[in-house]
Amino acid sequence: MYLLPLLTTVLFSTALAHTWNEQLSVIESGNFVGSNGYPRGYVSRTIPGFYDDMMTYQLPPPKDTSRTRVNDSDFLCAPTQRTSNQTQSFPRLSAWPGAHVAMKYLENGHVTLPQNTPGKPLGGGTIFVFGTSQPIENELLVDVLEWTTDGTGGDRRGKLIAAQNFDDGRCYQINAGNISLTRQQEFPDPVEGQPGSVHEQWCETDVAIPSDVSINSTYTVYWVWQWPTAPGTLGALEGKDEYYTTCSDIDILAGLIQSTTPNPLPQQDPQKSAVPHYQNRSAYRSNPL
Ligand SMILES: *[C@@H]1O[C@H](CO)[C@@H](O)[C@H](O)[C@H]1NC(C)=O
Ligand SMILES: *[C@@H]1O[C@H](CO)[C@@H](O)[C@H](O)[C@H]1NC(C)=O
Ligand SMILES: *[C@@H]1O[C@H](CO)[C@@H](O)[C@H](O)[C@H]1NC(C)=O
Ligand SMILES: *[C@@H]1O[C@H](CO)[C@@H](O)[C@H](O)[C@H]1NC(C)=O
Ligand SMILES: *[C@@H]1O[C@H](CO)[C@@H](O)[C@H](O)[C@H]1NC(C)=O
Repeated sequence: MYLLPLLTTVLFSTALAHTWNEQLSVIESGNFVGSNGYPRGYVSRTIPGFYDDMMTYQLPPPKDTSRTRVNDSDFLCAPTQRTSNQTQSFPRLSAWPGAHVAMKYLENGHVTLPQNTPGKPLGGGTIFVFGTSQPIENELLVDVLEWTTDGTGGDRRGKLIAAQNFDDGRCYQINAGNISLTRQQEFPDPVEGQPGSVHEQWCETDVAIPSDVSINSTYTVYWVWQWPTAPGTLGALEGKDEYYTTCSDIDILAGLIQSTTPNPLPQQDPQKSAVPHYQNRSAYRSNPL
């Protein structure tokens, strides 16, 4: 009786929280190595005055309440992420051809509180990552969705390099739902010196940089989360498209540059290892179209 109003408040507030790719890390032998990298135009949640819309980019745009589908003029990247653009203190990732990279994000209840969002796909939807050495400023979502794993799709400027469930099988925010409680036990993620999980375990999308990307070039990765509402859902009887994207550049070097900044940064997820199956992730849905 006492718990109910409290829980409802928690559930309600998480339903409003959006998700974006926060950070990128190289994985070597299953562990995160080197310095973290950040998306274009990254703004940290820890800065005073931060609000979600500084990083959330949703399609179709939520202000266009009449639209339930993406259309041919939707830009793929947020206005602050349409060009190579790092903010102070949040540099790009450095990696190399063939390197494995984890793209991390917060699950915000999309994994641990699925009951909050009826009509949504299993596994929290799908993350598609598209990579290109030839990004353009006014990249359109519909064009990039046509890129395929073999690079022959659409205008052929890039390819699909990952299709994975949003739920990486490990991540959780701290809440009172049974999935979170189970995962807190199963995958404890303590800050060094603390006894247990008192903070969020971030999710990751795991990609491999194609081995044919040139050294000393820039490789651009588009992280596209597809999270549609199924037809027949209350409030969306015809179904509804819902995408969130984050756009990032990666410097491609010959190998790992030794890190000068601590990893993880203070205030961030202390997790040091990738999910065990990082080289072999799958998705319920592997074709974005
Ligand atoms: C770069 O990012 C910052 C922070 O989001 C933004 O204020 C600025 O307008 C961006 N610049 C460009 C050229 O996109
Ligand atoms: C897409 O929708 C926007 C309104 O959100 C509209 O301005 C634009 O003309 C539409 N584009 C197409 C190709 O229908
Ligand atoms: C959580 O509870 C739901 C509904 O009772 C159940 O279907 C699900 O299997 C439970 N999950 C875990 C991880 O305990
Ligand atoms: C990459 O750049 C470095 C530093 O300028 C240079 O020493 C190296 O030869 C370049 N490698 C290739 C493959 O271009
Ligand atoms: C990768 O996953 C597939 C299907 O989930 C499985 O058949 C295969 O053995 C896995 N490969 C490795 C190297 O784990």
